[in-house]
Amino acid sequence: MASIKVNGTETEVPDPSRNLLSFLRYDLGLTGTKYGCGEGLCGACTVLVDGRPLKACMTTAGAVAGGSVTTIEGLASDGRLHPVQQAFVEESAMQCGYCIPGFIMSAVGLLNRDRSPSREQIREALAENMCRCGTYQRIQRAVERAAATISRGVK
Ligand code: FES
Ligand code: FES
Repeated sequence: MASIKVNGTETEVPDPSRNLLSFLRYDLGLTGTKYGCGEGLCGACTVLVDGRPLKACMTTAGAVAGGSVTTIEGLASDGRLHPVQQAFVEESAMQCGYCIPGFIMSAVGLLNRDRSPSREQIREALAENMCRCGTYQRIQRAVERAAATISRGVK
């Protein structure tokens, strides 16, 4: 049977045709990954697959079999928030919060590739994530804060 590593745990995929977002939310109970549009337009469902952001609503569990999926639940370690999560808290970069897991996963994906992105690169990396509450400026500041923290080597 196909399997995926989900937040570090090898997990069987009984139905490879199962939508990845549904697999995570309904089969595994990882409800931090949100359903927004279901059409690849809002970014609420963003997870990392092998460290890169992917919209879970647009793929199947079978398509990422053999890979490593990280959801928002898998970011903190040793009881400490990931620097991106911590920066979002410190900048109060959320209102209702619904979009935030997707933004955080996109930001982590960016900082995995580039620890010191420019303001423009941050904007580009988050361009496919939508926030209906309009907290974009605070989100931008949070990602800049996280990048500075990560560049200093603080974990
Ligand atoms: S729910 Fe996947 S992009 Fe909107
Ligand atoms: S904080 Fe409400 S949708 Fe972004």
